[in-house]
Amino acid sequence: MKLYFASGNDHKRQEMSRLLGGYELVLPKDEGIAFDPDEDGSTYIENAMIKAKALWDIVHQPVLSDDSGLSVRALGGRPGIHSARYGEEDGRKLSSEEKYMLLLRNMEGIGDRSASFIAALCLMLDEERIYIIQERCAGRIAMAPSGAAGFGYDPVFIIDEAGMTAADLPAEDKDRYSHRGKAARRMGALLERELEGIRRNQQ
Ligand code: IMP
Repeated sequence: MKLYFASGNDHKRQEMSRLLGGYELVLPKDEGIAFDPDEDGSTYIENAMIKAKALWDIVHQPVLSDDSGLSVRALGGRPGIHSARYGEEDGRKLSSEEKYMLLLRNMEGIGDRSASFIAALCLMLDEERIYIIQERCAGRIAMAPSGAAGFGYDPVFIIDEAGMTAADLPAEDKDRYSHRGKAARRMGALLERELEGIRRNQQ
């Protein structure tokens, strides 16, 4: 079944499709829709809602969105909701590797390396029916990058439950522990119930 996913990030689509199974996640760019809403919320949940509403206003169909990031305790929760834009200067975005290397430099000499990946998912069925789920994956920042799987900060994030970086884990193992994995499993159950209902009403 087709479901709009309010994102421009192919890695996230890949993860989310794998996690939800049975849904064809359609990104705005797949349909030539220009989509770059101002993510000016102050929390993951606010930003997930901004993205969902912005796409819903265009397609008027159920929309799923995700906002996520890495919150590091010793850095007061940074990079947090700004994880995708960490270190950006004069509009020049850093590569994933540049971002995690900058994080390692900012963590030099810091003993408390605890951190969490956070994912907020928003399902907007219509303007009055909105579901939010936020989950986290607890861990710590590694001393050096390790692993080649995953994306973003995965090579420098050691998942507590796994004892290795998210980039050292095969995708299915990351899904078991990850913030997005936990949130998506709950969202999958909800989607099945709600979209099945919508389908029945349309028949
Ligand atoms: P946004 O949700 O698109 O605003 O961006 C979230 C950013 O957080 C991503 O671009 C990554 O840098 C980072 N991030 C979120 N989830 C993960 C993950 O599972 N692994 C590694 N980095 C992540």
